[in-house]
Amino acid sequence: MEKLWNDGRRFVGRVAVVTGAGGALGGAVARALGREGARVALGYRTSRDSAQANVERIEAEGGEAFAAVLDVTEGGSVRDFVAGALERYGPVEVLVNTAGRIDPKDYVRSQQIDPRELAQLLNVDVLGSVRMCQAVRAHMEAAGRGAIVNFSGSYGNGVDPENLINSVAVGYCTTKGAVRAFTASLARDLAPLIRVNAISPGAIEANWEADWDIDPAQLEQAVAMTPLKRMGTPEEIAEATLFLASDGGGYITGQVLQVDGGWLMTG
Ligand SMILES: NC(=O)c1ccc[n+]([C@@H]2O[C@H](COP(=O)([O-])OP(=O)(O)OC[C@H]3O[C@@H](n4cnc5c(N)ncnc54)[C@H](OP(=O)(O)O)[C@@H]3O)[C@@H](O)[C@H]2O)c1
Repeated sequence: MEKLWNDGRRFVGRVAVVTGAGGALGGAVARALGREGARVALGYRTSRDSAQANVERIEAEGGEAFAAVLDVTEGGSVRDFVAGALERYGPVEVLVNTAGRIDPKDYVRSQQIDPRELAQLLNVDVLGSVRMCQAVRAHMEAAGRGAIVNFSGSYGNGVDPENLINSVAVGYCTTKGAVRAFTASLARDLAPLIRVNAISPGAIEANWEADWDIDPAQLEQAVAMTPLKRMGTPEEIAEATLFLASDGGGYITGQVLQVDGGWLMTG
C-alpha cells in the first residue's frame, strides 16, 4: 500500500518550537502543530494571554503544549527557552520562526529610514531566526532529523508607492530578503539531516486598520490587485507551514513558498 503522507497526525512524537506564538500567524501555526500531535513550546515576548489561550486550545483538543517568555533578540532568553523545551519534552525537531517586528517606524520611504530602527528590525526578524536556528541545531542532529520554517514576506508589487500593502517598505523588504538568503544558505549548511525553508505570506487577514493604522482604501486596492481577490487566513499560512515541516515536504529544502493569493507568480 502506498504511504499516506497526511493522516492528520503528522507530528506525533515530535517536539516543535514556535516563536511569536502569541501573534496571529504564530498562534495559528502552534495550534495546527498541536492538533497534529506535536508537543509544542510556544514563545511569546509580551502577548502572554494570547499564547496561553493557544496552549489551552491545544490542550482542549488533547494535545500537549506550554508557553514561556522568549525574546529572540536576547541570546540568554533564547538559550533558556530552548533548554526549557528540551527539559520538558526532549530534543526539538521542528522550529517555526514567526517572530517579527511590526512597527510603524519600519513603514517609511527609503529616504526616511533610520538605520538604528532598521537595525532593530533586522535584529528581530533576521538575527532572531539565526539565534533560534543555532540553538536547536544540536537537538536536531541528536534526533537525526529536523525541519525549520522561517518567515519571509511579500515585497508587494510596487504599483502605488503610497500604499503600504502594494509597495512594501524598503527596510521591511530588505529584512525579509535577508530571511530568504539566510534560509537558502542555511539549508545547504545543515543538509542532509535538517531541512530549512521559508514561508512568504502575502496580505493575511488581521486587524490592519486597528493595529497597524492602515487606510481601508489601501486594503481594498491591495485585495483588488490580488488574483484570488481576498486576503489569506492565518490557518492557510499554518497549513503551508506544516506541509514544509512535515515528511511530505521531505525533499524540499532551501525554498521560499509564496502563500499570497497569486500576488507574485513565479515559474
Ligand atoms: N500578517 C501578514 O499579513 C504578514 C505578511 C507577510 C509577512 N508576515 C510575517 O509573518 C510573521 C508573523 O506575523 P503576524 O502577522 O502573526 O504578526 P503579529 O501578530 O504581530 O506576530 C508577530 C509576533 O512577533 C513577536 N515578536 C516581536 N518581537 C519579538 C522579539 N524580540 N522576540 C520574540 N518575539 C517577538 C511578537 O510577540 P509579542 O506579541 O509576544 O510581543 C508578535 O506576537 C512576521 O514575521 C511577519 O513579518 C506577516
